[in-house]
Amino acid sequence: MSERLAPGATVGILGGGQLGRMLAMAAAKLGLRARVFAPEADSPAFQVSEKPVCAPFEDIAALRRFAEQCGVITYEFENVPAHSLAVIEELRPVFPPRRALVSAQDRLAERRLLQACRLPHADFEFVAEAAALEPAFTALRGRGHATAYLKKLRHGYDGKGQLRLEGSQDIAAAQDWLGREAAILEAAVPFLFESSVIAARARDGDIVCYEPARNTHTHGILSESRVPSGLPERLIADAFAMTRAIMERLDYVGVIGVEMFAIGGDKPDSLVINEIAPRVHNSGHWTLEACTVSQFENHIRAVAGWPLGSAERHADARMVNLIGEEADAWADILAQAPHRSLHLYGKAETRPGRKMGHYCDLTPLNRAPSAES
Ligand SMILES: Nc1ncnc2c1ncn2[C@@H]1O[C@H](COP(=O)(O)OP(=O)(O)O)[C@@H](O)[C@H]1O
Ligand SMILES: [Mg+2]
Repeated sequence: MSERLAPGATVGILGGGQLGRMLAMAAAKLGLRARVFAPEADSPAFQVSEKPVCAPFEDIAALRRFAEQCGVITYEFENVPAHSLAVIEELRPVFPPRRALVSAQDRLAERRLLQACRLPHADFEFVAEAAALEPAFTALRGRGHATAYLKKLRHGYDGKGQLRLEGSQDIAAAQDWLGREAAILEAAVPFLFESSVIAARARDGDIVCYEPARNTHTHGILSESRVPSGLPERLIADAFAMTRAIMERLDYVGVIGVEMFAIGGDKPDSLVINEIAPRVHNSGHWTLEACTVSQFENHIRAVAGWPLGSAERHADARMVNLIGEEADAWADILAQAPHRSLHLYGKAETRPGRKMGHYCDLTPLNRAPSAES
């Protein structure tokens, strides 16, 4: 096992979005330097990076030079090519481990991981090519699932790369959409709400889990996360146990996000895992304000080989994403609530569906919601 980083050492971050930006700021807080490697010239994380490198992930020579100047490398984005990680891990430690990246990059590999851990996930069929869609749909229908999600194996995010099928009338269009790609066809889960666990695992195996959040998505994009989630204690314990099982199986180091569906009658009685993100996660942004040690700080501590901090929260929190033009109202958003914390990601261009910032409203645990505002 590699040495722990000393203050002043450099953490390399692959990927230049808002997650990389917040990781770099957490590294700076700890007296570590952050260097960002990303392909896009206007990457938001470049603004807070020492000597950023703008090059494609496929530029092996640039990656090697970058790695040589870092003490440890991490990533904020699960679509970094696995072979790029393989190249740099010959030079420096890379966390989370490549096997975690590989399992999360491909929806079939992700399902195989859940199966190996004996964890619940939606019923699914592998669709190797467009012609296999109809029999897959028939098979799911035969098992009692009328509605399904067709998800391309790779590169999906924010609801992109997937299509909801309401019935066999949707198959032909879905085949066109799929083209020559492979996919999984997954039964639609009739969830009460969505939830997620953010957890960190240190190099020595220590694990801390943040309380599950309750997540709301709009058009496949996370719009809001809040804690407490409304999950009963028993299901919170289940969510933690499932997350620990995944981390232990992967010999994970760093922060992971595990998305889940809460299912049941009027109240949730069980959880089904939807997706695993081998990185800090949008549904954990509330930890910046509601916990002493945020997901970003715990990720940096984990990859640097430092002791983790507590995941306990000292406030109820509601995190709201600012998508596209919503962020233009930042001044009003600030004026509305004194206990509101605002984050803007420094993105030059506003685009519909693009995450431009977020805010977090806090209610300290020992104070009534309306106090002082
Ligand atoms: N099997 C499913 N049943 C019900 N809703 C689903 C299912 N799969 C995805 N969704 C909805 O679509 C959202 C995005 O899907 P997800 O698989 O998490 O992809 P990504 O976040 O990578 O775009 C989920 O958060 C959920 O709201
Ligand atoms: Mg998701």
